[in-house]
Amino acid sequence: MKSTELINGYLSFFEAKGHAIIPSSPLIPENDPTVLFTTAGMHPLVPFLLGEPHPKGKRIANVQKCIRTTDISEVGDESHLTFFQMLGNWSLGDYFKGDALKWSYEFLTEVLKIPKEKIYVTCFEGDEDAPKDEEAARIWRRLGVPENHIFFLGKKDNWWGPAGKTGPCGPDSEMFYWNSEEKPKRGQDPSNCNKFLEIWNDVFMQYNKREDGSFEQLKQKNVDTGMGVERTIAVLQGKNSVYETDLFEPIMKRIRMLAKEENKCSERIIADHVRASTFIMAERVMPSNVEQGYVLRKLIRRAYIHAQKVGIETSLSSIAEVVVEHYCRIYPELKANETFIMDEMHKEEERFKLTLEKGIKVFEKKIKEFKKELPGKVAFDLYQSFGFPVEITIDLAKENRLKVNEEEFNEELKKHQDLSRSSSTKRFASGLADQSHDTRRLHTTTHLLHQALRTVLGGHVQQKGSNITPERLRFDFTHNGKMSGEELKRVEDIVNEQIRNQVEVSYEEMPFEKAKKSGALHFFDQKYPDTVRVYSIGNFSKEFCTGPHVENTSELGKFKILKEEGVAAGIRRIKAGLE
Ligand code: SER
Repeated sequence: MKSTELINGYLSFFEAKGHAIIPSSPLIPENDPTVLFTTAGMHPLVPFLLGEPHPKGKRIANVQKCIRTTDISEVGDESHLTFFQMLGNWSLGDYFKGDALKWSYEFLTEVLKIPKEKIYVTCFEGDEDAPKDEEAARIWRRLGVPENHIFFLGKKDNWWGPAGKTGPCGPDSEMFYWNSEEKPKRGQDPSNCNKFLEIWNDVFMQYNKREDGSFEQLKQKNVDTGMGVERTIAVLQGKNSVYETDLFEPIMKRIRMLAKEENKCSERIIADHVRASTFIMAERVMPSNVEQGYVLRKLIRRAYIHAQKVGIETSLSSIAEVVVEHYCRIYPELKANETFIMDEMHKEEERFKLTLEKGIKVFEKKIKEFKKELPGKVAFDLYQSFGFPVEITIDLAKENRLKVNEEEFNEELKKHQDLSRSSSTKRFASGLADQSHDTRRLHTTTHLLHQALRTVLGGHVQQKGSNITPERLRFDFTHNGKMSGEELKRVEDIVNEQIRNQVEVSYEEMPFEKAKKSGALHFFDQKYPDTVRVYSIGNFSKEFCTGPHVENTSELGKFKILKEEGVAAGIRRIKAGLE
């Protein structure tokens, strides 16, 4: 089975079961961008899991582009990826465990034709927060899953969410493929054996985790499922590695054609990083030193180093080209932004070449300071500051008869990863799952600011990014040159006037074309569902948005711009708050 058949098969299966198929949301979360990237299909659906009505109804399915960067240093092995696609079906307060598990099993065994004896499942074993999920196990038995294929595991394995510190979560039931000719040993469960490949996770989101760590029942019982396309297709195509599936075939072929030397790990890193970078740039993100731009920069630079290592002499854009061709039928934004992707990739490589020359000079100076061993800390600094993967440093050191202290390097790396993990968790905690009143207030203020900027500076102003915490808003937009003090004051005055006028905030759901004609602000590069929600603030502002917002601008307080600065060519940033 080809990967497109898996994707299309999944979507039509759930469409036939009454699900509306929605397009993939962008990788860069819109309007709630306190997370860098969308990491699961449920992220854009949080407000609806919490009870807001979804314009397409209670049954939703899609294939979602996702990026997870916490395991970036493990890319190169059989299965780790930064970019991946997730198939998902959701019940927003509609069906629950019975139908969810029945349909999962039906899809696996009847559509994908996975032999029943290969399928193992896990259910939640229960703890002080929620009872043992006997119901899920009963459903599995009824469906014909034998007793010795059902395991009960704890929270670490069978509980999903919340995505942040608070929000929707619940026990889950996972489905595994047993990837071996032999039978599993007696009592061997999937939590500690890599022959069990996890292919699908059905989460029963019926709880809301509160700030104090306690759980309350949600207004509605939801189902959130996620099936990794890459992993599942590897199983279906009988491959040990995701890189050997048809999802990567033409990309790997191009890399091997361009490379002078064989190196499986480097080839995989190039394939993964170029694929991820291409998808990120299709959303018009440029390499930079902040946020998504920084992740993008890191991906391109690592890919470049590995391309050098295997002797690829042409630009990485000749690999990105294959990614665009291979994926553009499902993700047309790739083709639409092809020139931008190629140009930016090439420019970043050129910039990196200069940094690299400096890095090599630092390296050459450093090796003179040490005999026999190069401290891991030095290797780590080279990795951090110049993007030298440790294996490059090891190679270079070897040429100079030095050994790199790899243990020390790994310790440094781990320290850094722990730091970035905790900061990314924190970042998430303050974000998506945060539906606090303060965040809503700043979200509505962001709409006012957007329109006020267009009134003062002109219609060329377009939102390029937005980041809201309960304390402040941050808004990036297109405009050339610094704003004058007078312009800033006028923007503030306009927003404050809308607040003083106590304007009502309302929304309407309408067909996409009608919404577009109504002049509501939207992102031009983004694919929208057929029905969209348009938020209006009186007659002043009209924007495509899923919310949430306050009900009236009188809830906002006094608007104050804290800072205006440039972040990239032609892009300005405003930080502002409410007093
Ligand atoms: N949210 C769950 C996951 O990411 C199911 O999609 O595994």
